[in-house]
Amino acid sequence: MKALTVVPMQAGSARLDDVPEPPESDGPVLVETLAVGVCGTDAEIVSGAYGWAPRGRERLVLGHESLGRVKETPPGAGLSVGDLVVGIVRRPDPVPCANCGVGEWDFCSNGRYTERGIKEHDGYCSERYRIEPEYLVKVSPALGTLGVLLEPTSVVAKAWEQIERIGGRAHWAPTRVVVTGAGPIGLLAALLGVQRGLEVHVIDQMTTGLKPDLVAALGASYHTGSIESACDSPDVIVECTGVGSLVFDAAEHVGPGGVVCLTGVSSGGRSIDVDAGLVNRSMVLENEVVVGSVNANRRHYEAAAEALAKADPAWLSRLVSRKVPLESWAQALDRKPDDVKVVIEVAR
Ligand code: BGC
Repeated sequence: MKALTVVPMQAGSARLDDVPEPPESDGPVLVETLAVGVCGTDAEIVSGAYGWAPRGRERLVLGHESLGRVKETPPGAGLSVGDLVVGIVRRPDPVPCANCGVGEWDFCSNGRYTERGIKEHDGYCSERYRIEPEYLVKVSPALGTLGVLLEPTSVVAKAWEQIERIGGRAHWAPTRVVVTGAGPIGLLAALLGVQRGLEVHVIDQMTTGLKPDLVAALGASYHTGSIESACDSPDVIVECTGVGSLVFDAAEHVGPGGVVCLTGVSSGGRSIDVDAGLVNRSMVLENEVVVGSVNANRRHYEAAAEALAKADPAWLSRLVSRKVPLESWAQALDRKPDDVKVVIEVAR
């Protein structure tokens, strides 16, 4: 079967390969892949900056944002042939650590977790894959192909859960949120903010085009300047760019008792000047929190499915700004300034 593979940490190694059918050891459920979303992590892997091949192998099958259709399932797995499904990305470490042991693999504490399409486990960008039923999430037929947005939504559902748990340490009645970055993660974080009844401000560099339009269609405000000029004293800042200067701006400008949630994975290697004493003073005197958030466990996929079910399908479908057939995978990885979510169509 066809699969998009890469040699991790080797730029220019991605290619469309003929690979063996998925091994039974991956699980008893056979899924036909319909679509795979491309994100910044895939771009990093393809650029040779991130990713790990399965043990004893050189190449990794790419793809962690997926949508597929069940082709074969054992009885009693809670699945039927034809169901639309999304595969969960992370698997618990083999020890397992205390968090993985209770299904909170997104908080794995020994780093020995694996991730499909990213870390030591083949991803979903192949014509078929096998999987354990407990790592599949069913997608409502009403959502259809937009189910490919479930994995990135699970990442922001976890981020919002963290924000709310932290906010709940004292009286918590947030009203204003700033989201930095109008990529898929930023726009989905904004959607979940609007769904919570909050006043949402999204900051990005694009001055025209799809990103400002999508923010406006959500009923949120779009800005191209600083956090400070976009919103006075936000209760929550969801940082979705990983840009160092924005991270420190967020820590400095979040309102009293506020929470800054960092979701962008930056590559490092760039230094900035920061008045660390000033940032420290404002954070201490105003009980502010900066928290990092990565990945998602099953609870977050379920929260994400609920959020997508409540969203306007027309708005969600505009998030998918380009669809590219599997044979033209390279076009999907070539990011255009106005791209939001680019999807590789593995089957039509
Ligand atoms: C994925 C997460 C993953 C993270 C780090 C993100 O792109 O959505 O599931 O944990 O990359 O590898």
